[in-house]
Amino acid sequence: MSESEHKLWGGRFAGGPAPELVAVNRSITTDLRLWPFDVRLSQAWARGLVTAGVLSAADAEALVVGLDRVAARIAGGEVPIDSDEDVHTFVDRLLHLEAGEPASRLHTGRSRNDQVATGTRLWTMDACDRVSEMIRGVQRALVEQAESHVDALMPAYTHLQRAQPVSIAHWLLSHFWPLERDLARLAAARAGAAVLPLGSGAIAGSAFPVPREQLCAALGFAAISPNSIDAVGDRDFVAETLFALALVGAHLSRIGEDLILFGSSEFGFVRFGDAFSTGSSMMPQKRNPDALELARGSGARLLGDLTALLATLKGLPSGYNKDLQEDKRSLFDAVDALALLLPAVAGSIATLSFDRARMRSAVTSSMMATDLADYLVRKRVTFREAHGAVGRLVREAEEKGIEMTALPFESFEKAHAAFARDVYGELDPESSLRHRELPGGTGAVAVRHQLDAASTLLR
Ligand code: ARG
Repeated sequence: MSESEHKLWGGRFAGGPAPELVAVNRSITTDLRLWPFDVRLSQAWARGLVTAGVLSAADAEALVVGLDRVAARIAGGEVPIDSDEDVHTFVDRLLHLEAGEPASRLHTGRSRNDQVATGTRLWTMDACDRVSEMIRGVQRALVEQAESHVDALMPAYTHLQRAQPVSIAHWLLSHFWPLERDLARLAAARAGAAVLPLGSGAIAGSAFPVPREQLCAALGFAAISPNSIDAVGDRDFVAETLFALALVGAHLSRIGEDLILFGSSEFGFVRFGDAFSTGSSMMPQKRNPDALELARGSGARLLGDLTALLATLKGLPSGYNKDLQEDKRSLFDAVDALALLLPAVAGSIATLSFDRARMRSAVTSSMMATDLADYLVRKRVTFREAHGAVGRLVREAEEKGIEMTALPFESFEKAHAAFARDVYGELDPESSLRHRELPGGTGAVAVRHQLDAASTLLR
């Protein structure tokens, strides 16, 4: 071991590890970012060791101050050296440089197994908060756009076929609520992570009476783990977080797909803002929604991260196994992906402009077929009978190649005796919305309520 080398293990081996083992085992390129949490939990541990009668108060103080200096060094750009196997080794080496002898007492009663589980949980709790804030940004963009389009109409689609007229705001808000559920899932994942493993040692629990409840409170956890074997091998919180993130990815991909489609020349409903459009190296006319396509595409990556973690956990023996080191790759990748996507999707939405006239003109009279049937139902006709009568009218208009509004009244009379001349008013898409003022419907008043509810959640 050269002078600068620093290892947390190795005494029992005659020679050093093969370079191939060192290379495959080294996780610092991934886990370096745990350092602020490794520092914090080490400070709490040092104080806990005083209560446990292991450290003097003076030594603990030296360690706390030393760890602050370590944090300042890393924040200031200090980089790991080759022998720093992981973030714990790196922090420990620097602490020896900063605090001297007491640093050699810090690892008493703890293992990197409970250390990494604790650090990863702290990181996850923080990440859930950060991602949630960015989700709010997308929701804010949706609500702001919705505010200006409550009274504007567009077709809603089922099977990607024109279905019924809705308010543009109603469609925009249909993407708000899935994100609201994502926030609830992230809050639950955060709560799942807020259980303290520290004190579990390598597998059997620390041999020193460290005050776990005190560590729990000091580090912002909600509870302490009830079983040390479980605590060092439990990555449920990573799985739960990755599931919540994968679903965020799925939701962003659906927003992306709607907008990509609506921004095509064929639809022409929306135009992407200059700041969120890319050009083509060959075709000068192009205005491409790359951010939204990446949102659609990254859904796959997030799903892959979840699958990789679940596959890692399946069949793993109890306790800590090095396989678990892979958890952070998946976790960090998913959070990193969303940290890039969420602001880009928020910006893409905020800078959209809507071609309201074109959206309105895509609302054709055949989309009023359900409303026509409902009209008959209001005149005591059964829905089944009404459905058949309107179906005949739709066919007639289609055969003549005209809108239903252009059919003569005789056609309506022939289709069903209950039709009166006021039926033409019923073919007005606005009246379709007026009939849908129940909670959750697309009527203007209902959408206003919905918007208010959404805005309240953002406040
Ligand atoms: N780098 C390791 C990880 O991320 C830390 C725990 C190592 N524990 C061990 N017994 N080697 O999982």
